[in-house]
Amino acid sequence: MKKEINIKELSGNFVKMISEDWALLTAGENDCFNTMTVSWGGIGVLWGKDVCFVFVRPQRYTYQFMEKYDRFSLSFFGGEFKKELGICGSKSGRDIDKVAVTGLTPVCVGETVGFEQAKVIVTMKKLAYQDINPKGFLDESIMDNYKAADFHRVYVGEIEKVYIEK
Ligand SMILES: Cc1cc2nc3c(=O)[nH]c(=O)nc-3n(C[C@H](O)[C@H](O)[C@H](O)COP(=O)(O)O)c2cc1C
Repeated sequence: MKKEINIKELSGNFVKMISEDWALLTAGENDCFNTMTVSWGGIGVLWGKDVCFVFVRPQRYTYQFMEKYDRFSLSFFGGEFKKELGICGSKSGRDIDKVAVTGLTPVCVGETVGFEQAKVIVTMKKLAYQDINPKGFLDESIMDNYKAADFHRVYVGEIEKVYIEK
């Protein structure tokens, strides 16, 4: 299984970890959860707490789980399992059983769910959310991301647990 570490001991380039290698954002608990691939997000400090923030469009099935549950996780795979993450990022949990189709193994971590095959799992407790307001866009090209006016909801989560491979 995995070893718990402090977030300050985590090595690696977070920008590469999320933008190039991608991650699974999972919300829910036990056998009631949904997961989807993300390549946008951040890790940092806010309100004096170590936090992650993720961006979820309202039409995602995962959005419903982000709304319902207090906790969520990010599972990082270090560039492996790209095929599986491609499926989780193109199919909806409304239509397929992502665990059955990908063979990825869910594991209970920090009162939510991550994936056994991940190199790093970070679990969060929701602190706040905010919907992206296009009134604040200073660069008009940002609107290219929102042809359907499906502005992301930003979730800020306090980092609770960090697990790495032993
Ligand atoms: C590489 C990659 C990154 C993605 N990043 C995000 C993201 O940050 N936010 C988001 O809302 N959707 C993102 N998506 C899209 C969702 O993963 C995709 O719509 C998924 O099928 C939603 O699944 P769900 O309906 O089961 O929640 C991304 C997809 C891919 C392939």
